[in-house]
This record gives sequence, C-alpha cells and structure tokens, in this order.
Amino acid sequence: MAAALCLDGLAFLVLLLRLADAQNHATYIVLINPNSTKPSVFPTHSHWYSSSLSSSSEAVPPPTILHTYSTLFPGFSASIPASSLPTLRGLPHVLSVIPERRRPLATTRSPLFLGISSSSSSPLLHFSDFGSDLVVAVIDTGITPSHPSFSDTGLGPVSSKWKGQCVAANGFPSSACNRKLIGARFFSQGYEASNGKMNATTESRSPLDTDGHGTHTASIAAGRYVPDASTLGYARGVAAGMAPKARLAAYKVCWNSGCYDSDILAAFDAAVADGVDVISLSVGGVVVPYYLDAIAIGAFAAMETGVYVSASGGNGGPGGLTVTNVAPWVTTVGAGAIDRSFPADVKLGNRRVIPGVSIYGGPGLETGHMFPLFYTGDSEGTDGYSASLCLEGSLVPKAVKGKIVVCDRGINSRAAKGEVVRKAGGVGMILANGVFDGEGLVADCHVLPATAVGATGGDEIRKYIETASKPGSKSPPTATIIFKGTKLRVRPAPVVASFSARGPNPESPEILKPDVIAPGLNILAAWPDNVSPSGLSSDKRRTAFNILSGTSMACPHVSGLAALLKAAHPEWSPAAIRSALMTTAYTVDNRGETMLDESSGNTSTVMDYGAGHVHPEKAMDPGLIYDLTSYDYVDFLCNSNYTANNIQVVTRKTADCSRAKRAGHAGNLNYPSMVAVFQQYGRPKMSTHFIRTATNVGDANSVYQVTVRPPMGVKVTVRPERLAFRRTGQKLNFLVRVETRAKKLAPGGSSTRSGLITWSDGKRTVTSPLVVTLQQPL
Ligand SMILES: *[C@@H]1O[C@H](CO)[C@@H](O)[C@H](O)[C@H]1NC(C)=O
Ligand SMILES: *[C@@H]1O[C@H](CO)[C@@H](O)[C@H](O)[C@H]1NC(C)=O
Ligand SMILES: *[C@@H]1O[C@H](CO)[C@@H](O)[C@H](O)[C@H]1NC(C)=O
Ligand SMILES: *[C@@H]1O[C@H](CO)[C@@H](O)[C@H](O)[C@H]1NC(C)=O
Repeated sequence: MAAALCLDGLAFLVLLLRLADAQNHATYIVLINPNSTKPSVFPTHSHWYSSSLSSSSEAVPPPTILHTYSTLFPGFSASIPASSLPTLRGLPHVLSVIPERRRPLATTRSPLFLGISSSSSSPLLHFSDFGSDLVVAVIDTGITPSHPSFSDTGLGPVSSKWKGQCVAANGFPSSACNRKLIGARFFSQGYEASNGKMNATTESRSPLDTDGHGTHTASIAAGRYVPDASTLGYARGVAAGMAPKARLAAYKVCWNSGCYDSDILAAFDAAVADGVDVISLSVGGVVVPYYLDAIAIGAFAAMETGVYVSASGGNGGPGGLTVTNVAPWVTTVGAGAIDRSFPADVKLGNRRVIPGVSIYGGPGLETGHMFPLFYTGDSEGTDGYSASLCLEGSLVPKAVKGKIVVCDRGINSRAAKGEVVRKAGGVGMILANGVFDGEGLVADCHVLPATAVGATGGDEIRKYIETASKPGSKSPPTATIIFKGTKLRVRPAPVVASFSARGPNPESPEILKPDVIAPGLNILAAWPDNVSPSGLSSDKRRTAFNILSGTSMACPHVSGLAALLKAAHPEWSPAAIRSALMTTAYTVDNRGETMLDESSGNTSTVMDYGAGHVHPEKAMDPGLIYDLTSYDYVDFLCNSNYTANNIQVVTRKTADCSRAKRAGHAGNLNYPSMVAVFQQYGRPKMSTHFIRTATNVGDANSVYQVTVRPPMGVKVTVRPERLAFRRTGQKLNFLVRVETRAKKLAPGGSSTRSGLITWSDGKRTVTSPLVVTLQQPL
C-alpha cells in the first residue's frame, strides 16, 4: 500500500515537472525515507526512480536523475525545476530535498618532521605494517596512475573485502590500477548538470587528474617512498606519504569549476560500498545546519559503517569563525608550517633586506646588479581593479620593461601575476601581502624570478618606492632578489599557517574546531606529468613533485595517519582514532614555547589549533580514548535543538529527545575537547558541567591521576580525581564542573579563555583542551 502511494507520488511528480517551466532547472539532492518500501517490480531503487521519472511519453525531456544513492541512504539527485519543489517536499516518502552546492578545492620532509620516516624505526609504521591492509579513499580531482608514488612494488594481494573498480575512460586505461591504486572512479553528472558539458580539451571525463590537486593529496596520504624527489631542486629528499603501503582509491569529483555536492555524495556512496576504511576530503565548504549539508549527511552515514572521515578546515584564516566542515563526526584539520622554508630575500637600494619565500627554480637575477623597482600604486587597471594587482592586461610594457614589479596579492593566482609581469617585460616580481593577508607567506613555482613578502615588508617596500620616486630624490628605487634554496630545521616550528581557518565553530560553538592541525604549508608531493608546477597552461615546465600549501595538504596527512592507527588497532571506531590524535597532540614548538600564529607572529590559541599539532607516535598508544557511537551524536543534535525531522535527515534515526535533554547539553557529547558556552548577559555567576567517559585502551590495572590547568578566572573541579582501571576496554566516568563570574570574562574580543585537563598514568598523558567562552547575543 505504501509502495503504491509512493509510485503514484513519483508519477505525479513527473507530470508536475513536465508541466513546469523547463528552463529553470537546478540540481537537488532528494533523501528518501528508508521505511518507504520500493515496489517489488523494480530490482533496485535506481530502476524505481528513473522508471517513474521517464514513464510519460510527453515531448518535454524528462527530468534527469544524476545519481542514485543506495549505500549511505536511499535517495537520488536530479535536475528539476525550482517551481516543483514544494510538491516534491510534500511527498510522503521524501525525507528532505537539499539544494546542490558548489565547493572550492580548498612531502619529503613532513613524515620526518612528524617522526615517522622509515629510518626512524617507527613503532607506528611497524605495528601497522605501514598500513598495508587499509584502503584510503581520496575524493578529489582524480589521480595520475603511473606516478612512482603509486608504484605497487612489493605489495601483497588486495584484500578480498575490496569491491571497488578501476573505471576506464578517455585516456585512463583499466590497466592504470595496480596493487597500490586499487580503485579509480569519476562523478561528473552534477558538475555537468550545473555547468553544461565539459570541454574535453581542457579536462578528461575519466579518473585522470588534469589539475594536480588529487595526485598531490593522494600521495600525502599514502604515497610510496620515492628517492631524490624535489621541485625544481627545492626540498630534495625521499618523498613518502603517511601510510606508504596503504591502498589508494581515487574518486574524482572536482572539475575545472569546482566540486558539486551531488557528485561528492555519489563518491561517498561508492567509497563506502567499495569497502574503504578512510575517506579524505580536501574541499572547502559553506557552514550551514547539518540537515542542509550533504557532506555532513554523507559523512554521518560513512561514520556509522566505521569509515573514518577527515576533511580540510578551509583556507579562510586568519579571521575567526572561518572553519568549515565542522560536523562533530568529521575530523576537521587545520594547517601548520613544518621546520622547512624556502627563503628568497628582497634587497632594496637603501640596503634594507626584506625576508621573502619562493620556489622559483630557473636562472636567478644577475648577481650584484640592482634593478629598477616598479609599483603602480592605486592607478586603475583591468575591470576597475587596481593595476597593482597585476591582473591580465593591467601592466604597460613600456613602464615595467627590465624592472622588478611589486604586485599586491588578491583576485588572480599568485603564479598568474608572475606570468603577467613576465609577459609585460618585467625581470622579476615581489608579491606583497596586504594588511588582511598579514605575515602569511606561501612559496610558489613562479615563471620568473619572484618572491613573496609579508604585510610589514610589503609596506616598507611600497613606502621606499614612494619616497625614492619623489622629485628631488637622489636615487630612484632599485632592488634585487636573493634566492637561498631550501632551509631546514627552521625555528620556530610548527607554526599555525596564516590561511588556516579558525574557530569558534560557527555551527556548533560547543564543539571546538578545527580538531587538530597537521603539516599544510609548502608540502612536497606527487604531481601529474600533464600539468605545470605553477598550474599555468602557458608554463611548459614539468616536475614529478610539486610544493603546495593549504588545509587541503594537511587533511590527507591525518587521513594517512588514521589508516596507520586503524591498521594497528582494527577495533577502534572513527571517534576513537580521532580521540587518540587529539589527546596526544602538542601545542609547544621546537623552541619549547606555545606555537605561534604565522599571520601575526603572536602566540596562537585553541581557536587556531584545536587540540594541537598531531603527534603520530603518541597517538599509537594514547592510554585512554573518548569513544562515541552514532546514538551519541543523535543526543548531541537533540541538545543542539534540532527538530526530530532534521535529526532524521542527518541520521535516519528517530530521536527521543526528551531522554537526551535530560542528560544535559550539547557540550556533553563525549568529545576529547570541552567548550563551555555562556550567554553574555546571563546571570552574574555562571556554571556548567561536562560528563566524560574514558575507555582504557592501554594496560590492565592502570591508574590515571588528573591535573587541571584552569582557564584564567575560571574554577574547574574534576570528580573523581583518580581513575583506576582493572581491565583493558573498561570505561569509567568523570565529571568536570566549571564555574566563573561574568565580570571575570572580559566582554568583547578576548572573552575566550582556555585551560587543560590532563589524565596521566605516569607513562602517558591524555590531554583535553577546556574552553570557556561568552557568546555574544545575536
Ligand atoms: C575547449 O577549450 C579549448 C582550449 O581552451 C578551446 O580552444 C575550445 O574552443 C574549447 N571548446 C569548446 C567547445 O568550448
Ligand atoms: C599581537 O600582540 C600584540 C601585543 O600583545 C597586540 O598588540 C596585537 O594586537 C596582536 N596582534 C593580533 C593580530 O592579534
Ligand atoms: C536550546 O533551547 C534551550 C531552551 O530554549 C536553550 O536553553 C538552549 O540554550 C538551546 N541550546 C542550543 C545549543 O541552542
Ligand atoms: C521506520 O520505521 C520504524 C518502525 O516503525 C520507526 O521506528 C522509524 O522511526 C522509521 N524511520 C523513519 C526514518 O521514519
């Protein structure tokens, strides 16, 4: 009966869609109530939806089903007219209709920096057998199959649980896969529905990577050891991913103009069905409630099946509230700088030296010679933008020929500015940060001698040019760039990368995000042979490795580590793996002081790094973990005041929220960090409590003692202060009480205070950040 109703509903829908204006189509993701039974005449849900949607013989083309989702939850995505939405939403078997969203794409030395290179006799690599039985899914721009980082030399047969495929298409043969790259698929229906058919000259409708991002991130997660890797001579050494023997499966969802949710969801669906263990997602996002966020919904279903999902936090830093991919069932990764840099300093005619960075690899500027220096200032260039941005066509060749040109950051890519300067006849470029960019620097493979300088240095150079250009000045402005190659053992390190997106968590302030930071600045990793290192099509250089920066690079470090941890501890849940990474993370740099924030040079905070920088070897043996099941997240959503319907959309579970609400508040999720959110104009005396459950994953008969470092102006008590575990696997509860007074927390900007709660058995330390914030009224 229910089935018949559903079929009628869909048939009605088709009619409605056909009568509606055929022009105004947009893509929607439709979640079907899992209880509505599929009519038995249709072998699969896909048959059901598409047969229903095409059973009419009218002339108007039927609405196209783009993807059918079946592993994560029943549903589909389709291109349909917006006018038929209310009816679609009203159908009894339709749980939710979510609009399509487009998302942007958000290491030789990093394994050594993390302490797990092959030469350092790593117990983590040893116990996990380098991750050889695990499969990491990289949802990205595809893969370069023949790259040495994806060689399968010495790898054993693929586990029989693997059900994935190597999809052959345009320029990507089925022989492209091997025992390392065990799966490759692509999803373009959502992209093409929104963008029109792709141009086969500029991209490949296949798993082949024609961008480079996906090859780079995949090799960070699980690239093999490749000796003598470098980019144009920089960062030379052995390249290796985090889990060198883990298998890789590439799911291409990102195309020339972005990554679409309907395709990303199809990749999640396929990856879980294929049998992956870890999903790595280096795309940015917009922060919306979880029931409107297709990625959060897909990640929830993946987590429920035991698949670990890590995602990049985004590159929207250094401002606050910029972190994305913030669902508590996802590990959100920020970016740090490792102890390697590529100094390329600017020497000015007044003898001042301004520090910069670059990975320009061609012939340098003539030694000892000073070149005239040029900056357009505020004069108008292309499309109303300042000419100082060095956009295409904004520089007058007569004015810049033979000169070093100062370009401001913004609008076009950093390397593209260099190309504009080169074409106009400039001999070099200084890429200068504006005040909003702060001191954050990213090294690029420029096509001419060029370097990047921070906001302070940029200002000094601009002022020098202004002064030296004034009539009556004794000497016109001049400069040169001195390239110093690769510098190692840089101090301080790690440093929070300027671009790394920051908390507080805009959707759930009770959950600290990002969770951790990992290396994400100037990371060397594999690169396709069909893409230049600058990404410019005019650039004919080719390199097997490239140096990129972003939380996109940080995320696969954590994905690879998760594979190692899961290989060493097959029984650990995704939450357990994240807990191990968080409670063992560190916040002190190689000078022994709190990590700095690259953007300001000031001390960084929990809002910048979450629990801290990952420490893989310690994560291997965390002692205690804070575990979570999917039902705990349902309680969390109840306590976040989500409606029963919205909770069902995210979790496909019927929530009994009265039970959850009795148990406490959103911050009571058994998370490895704690955030107390107080209202700005609440009572003068404020208090709350957290209940946490610690699971002993270390030795039997271990006793943990608590140490509290309370946030300034806050009283914190932990009961009991001692946890005595008799068995491995045993769980014990403790209660954290937090009390403060409104006047002790400064109103406005600095109303966030943080402290630490640390359990120790004398051998291991299990640390949780404890944050107290005053929420501004909306
Ligand atoms: C595809 O891209 C190429 C290279 O940019 C261009 O020359 C060609 O006109 C494009 N084709 C179509 C159909 O847009
Ligand atoms: C860095 O610290 C200085 C001194 O405490 C302070 O004046 C400045 O505002 C801080 N900068 C940022 C960006 O927080
Ligand atoms: C949920 O609603 C209750 C009652 O209005 C309120 O006290 C609580 O702060 C809300 N919680 C969240 C996380 O918004
Ligand atoms: C499916 O049916 C079961 C049993 O009637 C019910 O408990 C559950 O909430 C239903 N699920 C949805 C998504 O409606």
